[in-house]
Amino acid sequence: MTDDIRFVLEQALRAPSGDNTQPWRWVVRGESIELWNESSDDPLHTLYSGSRDNSQASYLSFGAAIENASVAATTRGYRAEISYFPDPACPLLIAVLALLKDPSVAPDPLADFLAARVTNRRPYRRVPLADAERAALLSATEDRALGEIKLLDDRQSVAKLATIASLHDELIFSIKRLHAYIFSHINWTRREDDRRRIGFYFPTLAAPPFTWGFMQLMRHWWFMRIGIACGLHRFISLEQRIIYRESGGYGIMLLPGDSPADWVRVGRLTERVWLAATREGLSLHPLNGVILLSLSVETEEGKRMFSRAQRQRLVEGSEGIARIFGVERGRIAFLFRVGRGRAPGGRTSRLPFERLVEVAAPLEHAARSPHER
Ligand SMILES: Cc1cc2nc3c(=O)[nH]c(=O)nc-3n(C[C@H](O)[C@H](O)[C@H](O)COP(=O)(O)O)c2cc1C
Repeated sequence: MTDDIRFVLEQALRAPSGDNTQPWRWVVRGESIELWNESSDDPLHTLYSGSRDNSQASYLSFGAAIENASVAATTRGYRAEISYFPDPACPLLIAVLALLKDPSVAPDPLADFLAARVTNRRPYRRVPLADAERAALLSATEDRALGEIKLLDDRQSVAKLATIASLHDELIFSIKRLHAYIFSHINWTRREDDRRRIGFYFPTLAAPPFTWGFMQLMRHWWFMRIGIACGLHRFISLEQRIIYRESGGYGIMLLPGDSPADWVRVGRLTERVWLAATREGLSLHPLNGVILLSLSVETEEGKRMFSRAQRQRLVEGSEGIARIFGVERGRIAFLFRVGRGRAPGGRTSRLPFERLVEVAAPLEHAARSPHER
């Protein structure tokens, strides 16, 4: 593997992914890089993601990783030519990136912010976005067929969106399997985080340090059951709603179409906006729970997991987001809050490069898929 390809992949691996699952595997074949879907088949994971073959949350993350790779490639004089789902018989092959040396390529200014981009779950200042900040976020999406962004920063809309987003917190703390899923992604100590290198290190959740002990109790379902009887899940949701209100504004990403490739494209767009926000000194926090869970309400898993009333609330929540932003239902892929806030209290880890990247022989000499070998 050349130094340039290694550099490009190192930047790709910095990309955000839902619950920091890093659901990818990368195969280098000469000058081409293949991106494979390694999402878990765990039914709980697929609840947030559709199914392994149609995993919207993972597709967004793949898009973010592809964007990181192509932004990084420009700094070494390459244009990344991307083929989405190039083999219809192989839906787990998400994309092939061909790196083409091109003297006309200029380094993308967003490349300087690949390392600094981070999820910030803290409260932000309630100051609406300045014109220049708004323009910077919107311009990150110019001239690209990757999707569309919409922003809102009036107080009434912010408050309504905060209320809808906090439904996810209520569900996490009141549904046993969802609670188990989320808590299984928290790493409580630096040591545990260094060992696992997926999921969230506790300080990245922006919970005040004194809640550590209480959270230790909340990870036990027997404790949560008592808590639920006393309305603890509603209290947590309210507390989160207050934090979500502390935002400069909210944004959504709209899909350019409804194919899996469109989810990947809008993931690229999302990462561009996130990098542009980072360049402006703005913090960003995805709040995608309600949107993703609402996609599953008609699936078997969704019907098993949620009561009729909960499914209804999820649908109303995602319809509400669309109404507030003035869009038709079904085209929103991503909801986030944005604003100026104190730096987050920690950063998530990443799996080691060697575990995620493999060098393979050119295709004529190789088996079709790493999964088949
Ligand atoms: C598709 C997608 C959905 C996400 N949804 C949420 C969310 O609903 N709530 C949240 O707190 N973080 C969410 N995140 C942020 C991830 O948890 C975060 O990117 C990951 O833990 C890595 O941390 P980093 O962004 O600081 O590198 C989401 C990220 C992606 C890519």
